Amino acid sequence: MKISVFNGPNLNLLGTREPGIYGADTLADIEAICRATAADLGVDLDFLQSNHEGALVDAFHAARGVSDGVVINAGAYTHTSIALRDAISATQLPTVELHLSNTHAREEFRHHSVIAPVCVGLILGFGARGYPLALTALVQHLKGSTP
Ligand code: DQA
Repeated sequence: MKISVFNGPNLNLLGTREPGIYGADTLADIEAICRATAADLGVDLDFLQSNHEGALVDAFHAARGVSDGVVINAGAYTHTSIALRDAISATQLPTVELHLSNTHAREEFRHHSVIAPVCVGLILGFGARGYPLALTALVQHLKGSTP
């Protein structure tokens, strides 16, 4: 089984980006956490970050027939990107939406996710610890465990 972890805009700045909100872990730290979790779960991992909406759409297309599911922190595109939502629907890749922060406890414009309705579930508000939670939940979902 192979899982892709996609990270959207500004997440390359984690570690220095508003650490009071997003924590002190860098994206490299998060990748290491994901790789350790994937090894524990016995799955292969593909990990990428892009600041570009189209590159994230392309990543979904490239994952078709290669990955079994996706964990995505779409960053601000969560709230705006119909193209990303359409990519999830079009590829039919089981996808978990993830956020480091609890977006519902923040500005109103972060309360709405355009991708949530086409995702299998959401993990938010647990910082970097959300990544292993999301990977574990997605693998269990793919293996057919009931929620
Ligand atoms: C975020 C929340 C988004 O609202 C924001 O635009 C981000 C990060 C999070 O992980 O908490 O870039 O996705």
